[in-house]
Amino acid sequence: MSGNTKLLLNNLKEMKLSGEKISVVTAYSYPQAQMAEEAGIDMILVGDSLGMVELGYSDTVPVTMEDMLIHIKAVRRGAPDTHLICDMPFMSYNISIEQAIENAGILYQKGRADSVKLEGGTDYADTVSAVFRAGIPVCGHIGLTPQTAALLGGHKVQGKSLDAAKKMIDDAVALDEAGAYAIVLEAIPAGLAGIISEKVSVPTIGIGAGAACDGQVLVFHDMLGMYKKFTPKFVKIYADIYSDSVNALSRYSSEVKDGIFPGAEHSFKIKEETLEQLKELLKM
Ligand code: KIV
Repeated sequence: MSGNTKLLLNNLKEMKLSGEKISVVTAYSYPQAQMAEEAGIDMILVGDSLGMVELGYSDTVPVTMEDMLIHIKAVRRGAPDTHLICDMPFMSYNISIEQAIENAGILYQKGRADSVKLEGGTDYADTVSAVFRAGIPVCGHIGLTPQTAALLGGHKVQGKSLDAAKKMIDDAVALDEAGAYAIVLEAIPAGLAGIISEKVSVPTIGIGAGAACDGQVLVFHDMLGMYKKFTPKFVKIYADIYSDSVNALSRYSSEVKDGIFPGAEHSFKIKEETLEQLKELLKM
């Protein structure tokens, strides 16, 4: 289904059933969204990873609704024909179901997201169900949930013990039953992700969850080598934009200092005769 046809929820289910994998990448700005849409990416996630890769925070916790709204709007302008998932930031859905519906509504109605994503399993099934019943498609997110990483012992692989794996399957089934149209599985063993993908009726989108998921998502800055602080093991780096940009900027700086830039081809001309007249007028 790649190309510039916006994916609908039934298309995603069909892709799961037919075994066609779903490609998802994050984006936070107008040009990033343009690139993702032109590349034929199936869905774009305006993730709250925004906090780290674009806003310079150490985690996703400080990201606000105001931040998400600015960025979802920019991404929508850049990718009008791609399904946009918008993350609900920390504390925009955790206080009450009413709060979750209201904030999901803002991202959907004002931000023009096609769906929202929130973190949590069984504990958030009622929230997912209420937002879905209010008319807004919801994507779940379980495994490593960065907004509450402090409660999980940090940014660690989840679901490794028998109990933890069983709990994660229960979480996935609860989200499916609550009406989530897809579930992100982050940093869990590939074998467990395979079982979950079989157990649920909706597509699973993996990040650090192996090849058996119905789709994959990567953070734009990670896969393009734009974020140098930390690169998780599960990221494949497809370009080195950070180094290429530093090299280009440093060449530019040297050329300015050496008088190489701007060249004649980057400058505007005035008639020689006018210039002479001007000099004479100014007695130069
Ligand atoms: O915010 C984000 O980028 C995400 C992905 C890691 C799935 O939620």
